[in-house]
Amino acid sequence: MDIKFVKREKLKEKPKGDLGFGVIFTDYVFNMDWDKDKGWHDAQIVPYEGVNMDPASMVLHYAQATFEGLKAYKGEDGKFYLFRPNMNAKRFINSNKRLCLPELPEDMFIEAIKALVKVEKDWIPTGEGESLYIRPFMYAKEVKLGVAPSKSYRFSIILSPVGAYYKEGLAPVKIYVEDELTRASLGGTGFAKCAGNYAASLLGQVKAEKLGYTQVLWLDGVHRKYVEEVGSMNAMFLIDDTVITAPAGETVLPGVTRDSVIHILKDMGYKVSEEHLAVEDLMKAAKDGRLKEAWGTGTAAVISPIGELFYKGEEEVINNFETGDLTHEIYKRLTDIQWARSEDKFGWREEIKMD
Ligand code: COI
Repeated sequence: MDIKFVKREKLKEKPKGDLGFGVIFTDYVFNMDWDKDKGWHDAQIVPYEGVNMDPASMVLHYAQATFEGLKAYKGEDGKFYLFRPNMNAKRFINSNKRLCLPELPEDMFIEAIKALVKVEKDWIPTGEGESLYIRPFMYAKEVKLGVAPSKSYRFSIILSPVGAYYKEGLAPVKIYVEDELTRASLGGTGFAKCAGNYAASLLGQVKAEKLGYTQVLWLDGVHRKYVEEVGSMNAMFLIDDTVITAPAGETVLPGVTRDSVIHILKDMGYKVSEEHLAVEDLMKAAKDGRLKEAWGTGTAAVISPIGELFYKGEEEVINNFETGDLTHEIYKRLTDIQWARSEDKFGWREEIKMD
């Protein structure tokens, strides 16, 4: 792929102190356009700037937009890595198919990310738990109000040096089980990483925050009975000696961290069951002391312990609101691979050569 580079006159100051999540952006953005006649064209890395859009651009009205989230790490060995970027590339293709956006081949997706990270390598933070969050996204550009797939699109990548997603860090979060609103239903877009899914989740999130909870645990859209996912992460529950998580791919996002943690757990000898777990059974297991630990998995959230569940007026504290041993261990095993502190036994690190 031919990528044009437009140098900016003056680089931004690099941040000092707490990075937060997704509030600081680097010097450059990757842009590439698509239309029916030319396909993908005009790949460029240009100074980070605002997007000038016609108010009738289709994405602003019909949310034909998808995105991905992955991270670049500076390893302890001094090399630079992505973590399983092929998984994000594949999921992006699936999201784009569902939302009628054009397919971006896996190799182009990864090449574009590597090219931008290479330019911005000095932005990769090295503090404990810090990384460079990569946000590729695609949106409909056609100027028209008829409801139909757009005839032109833009694919962009922006980068943000980040710390922990939740202010709690690796301390437990309190989760509100939403029993009225739902996030996804069969045949819908639950498995896709599309803008609209997140817009539809906001009201539940606001409701949860008002009651002092950090995030929402969504139930299935048919019965409002089975546990699905948390707004920004997949959820896992250690009940007795089995880790239970909702099946991904239909109404639940197939998380890259989710898949990685399943591999790590199986490698440790744990039983993992991908099943539809009824919320009543989950709350009962918590009451009976059989729910030993719970945590969320996500690129942004990494591993986030769940210390409390609230469902229909009932509160259950998990593991005395402490981060459990297994939660600690999977966090360690996963991040040791990501920061090249351990052997890459699953072949998940992908080096970005900086020469
Ligand atoms: C991620 O974990 O990368 C996400 O996209 C979750 C959220 C920040 C939307």
